Amino acid sequence: MSKTDKVIIFDTTLRDGEQSAGAGLTVEEKLRIAHQLNKLGVDVIEAGFAGSSQGDFDAVKRIANEVKGPVITSLARAVEADIDAAGEALKGAENARIHTFISASDIHLMHQMRKDRESIMDMAVKAVERAKKYVDDVEFSPMDATRTDPKYLYTMLEAVINAGATTVNIPDTVGYSNPREFGELIKGIKENVPNIDQAVISVHCHNDLGMASANSLSAIENGARQIEGCINGLGERAGNAALEEVIMALETRPDFYELETNIDPKEIGNSSRMVGSIFGFPVQANKAIVGQNAFRHSSGIHQDGYIKNHSTFEIMEPESVGWRGEALVLGKLSGRAGLRARLRELGYELNDEELANIFLKFKDLADNKREITDMDLEALMSEQHRIIDTNGTYHVDSVKVVCGNDVIPKAEVSLECPNKDKQQVTSEGTGPVDAVCKAIDQVVKLGAELTEFSVSAVTEGIDSLGEVTIRIQKDGSVYSGRGSDSDIVVASAKAYVNAINRYLIISEKERNFTSETV
Ligand code: KIV
Ligand code: ZN
Repeated sequence: MSKTDKVIIFDTTLRDGEQSAGAGLTVEEKLRIAHQLNKLGVDVIEAGFAGSSQGDFDAVKRIANEVKGPVITSLARAVEADIDAAGEALKGAENARIHTFISASDIHLMHQMRKDRESIMDMAVKAVERAKKYVDDVEFSPMDATRTDPKYLYTMLEAVINAGATTVNIPDTVGYSNPREFGELIKGIKENVPNIDQAVISVHCHNDLGMASANSLSAIENGARQIEGCINGLGERAGNAALEEVIMALETRPDFYELETNIDPKEIGNSSRMVGSIFGFPVQANKAIVGQNAFRHSSGIHQDGYIKNHSTFEIMEPESVGWRGEALVLGKLSGRAGLRARLRELGYELNDEELANIFLKFKDLADNKREITDMDLEALMSEQHRIIDTNGTYHVDSVKVVCGNDVIPKAEVSLECPNKDKQQVTSEGTGPVDAVCKAIDQVVKLGAELTEFSVSAVTEGIDSLGEVTIRIQKDGSVYSGRGSDSDIVVASAKAYVNAINRYLIISEKERNFTSETV
């Protein structure tokens, strides 16, 4: 990829985003997100860290084989085994890149790597040279660049470009910098690295002080031409730059930035909803661009101005970023054709069997809820995908509870087991959800700890679908699960079983993972 007046959008939702505490996706889920990122028009998809686990290796490989168009990359530490794993996993990609990194700051060298500057420089150069044996397109990141001695950083960048790096990425790993300082660092790199014109300058900003997007844009003003980030600002700790923010800043202010991207902003809404749903991290209501309130005007003065002319209080059209309100779309009398057409508009292509399944769920919902909106349809589709993605594990067949202020809560749950047998169990609990989870535990016998439980409504109104997110902890790792239903106790059962299924799928892969595998 050459340097242009375009900004290259590098999505790391499936790698840094998956490092968010409590995330953890199956290969199928990653593939689904990668296809959506392709529709969004990102230039580079960081599909994972192939050398880190069997699950990541498989995900990188599947995405490399099946998602055509964007560059597919895998992260790799500057060690041979990681680079070889990345090269192997990326074999099927139309356009492959290896992204190798090593710590560069003295803090990291002294306390983490316990190596001197010369040895680290040598490892960086050797890593790029090894990656070049697999692919032409090699990205190098000096980790913790914003706390690295600039002179050492310049020398390192010059050396890795000489070794063949085509992109040099400057990470603000701990979210320490600010827009002016970060912009000056990029300017310094342009002025002091003699061969910098042979590589694209990229930036990768973390949001610990809430400045990741602003820092990324400041870097762009100073010559960076690739931005790394995640949908919904996911990522390690406080997350990475939210790609939707950076993209819409460039789109909304062409007068200022005079730079383009290959992104189709109308796909931002779909991407955000899919990522929120699969990761089990709902987007906060006031989140820029993708929050539910991002285009809602509440104060009288604002509403008055907006009604007279939208531009008074709105700098972007909600439709331009694929934002969806709660408009009524379908009702009880709608047929299959109407449902298929609407789902197609939402980006879901269904075969006849899939349509038949979702139509039954749609009819059930329409019996309980007068108005079915796009958000309801998306919740139904997410539920359907969760069932498909966890095929061969446990599924909730039925749930009955007795509860109230003067009875001991009791649950009767029927679970479909991996061998397709159904098991019926009963349990008491401190509340209906506790009773349901205890009943499920009797069948699954996992011994996981439930660490988080939250319920939200998909739409407004008492008849709304309830969406439950649950996190469980097992063997030191956290697994999330989601479920939706018009009954929140049933939604809770589905979410709990979904978290258990994800544990079973993900940990099974990790158990089989050995370094010899790659
Ligand atoms: O934040 C960071 O430094 C990273 C690198 C691996 C690019 O994620
Ligand atoms: Zn990072």
